[in-house]
Amino acid sequence: MLKSVLGRCALTLLIASAAGCSHGKATAATGEKTEAKAVDYKTITPPDLVKQTPKGQLKNPYQDTQADIVADGQHLFLSYGCNGCHGGGGGGGMCPPLINDTWVYGGDDDTLFRLVTLGSDDLQKQGYTRIGQENVVGPMPPFGGIIKSADDLWRILAFVRSKYAGDPQYKFGAPPAPPPPSGE
Ligand code: HEC
Repeated sequence: MLKSVLGRCALTLLIASAAGCSHGKATAATGEKTEAKAVDYKTITPPDLVKQTPKGQLKNPYQDTQADIVADGQHLFLSYGCNGCHGGGGGGGMCPPLINDTWVYGGDDDTLFRLVTLGSDDLQKQGYTRIGQENVVGPMPPFGGIIKSADDLWRILAFVRSKYAGDPQYKFGAPPAPPPPSGE
């Protein structure tokens, strides 16, 4: 009895979703209002976004294949002076390259956003440690108070990603470790 009800439910769902997008869209739209506040990256500062987002959950809304976003990001990268240390293409200069497969604290969106916002010192105070060793070791200054909005920083990071020139497997950090060699 219970089973047949469940079965019917699943079937109805299937039919509803197969019936087209309009119904689903309406539900999603109304759902959005009741869901936890959607973040407007254009109006929130990077430090506020960092503060209100649990570790590991910051995700770039942009892709590095969006040419207009990447172009904006490049412009911002230069205007905020990132190039003074990292070089105009992010390839390094007096500071670590941003485009190779060595990531100092991790290569995921969340870690990069926090590093640029907080700087090395504050990031380390929050428990992060250097896991990757670049040829130059020094502190990244905090830019959270300088970069106008989280949106600007996401564009900058999309630009940085677009310049990535390392092993594709490491673009967003180290891939899962291979299983230890078996036997001896
Ligand atoms: C004063 C020099 C300086 C400036 C300016 C600077 N950085 Fe950095 N950046 C560093 C240093 C040094 C590190 C390495 C941090 C560490 O080892 O703790 C770093 C690390 C990074 C990393 C991580 C690189 C890796 O391989 O893991 C990213 C991403 C980054 N910076 C982005 C930026 C962006 C974006 C800007 C501009 C908003 C910027 N940096 C401005 C010095 C700088």
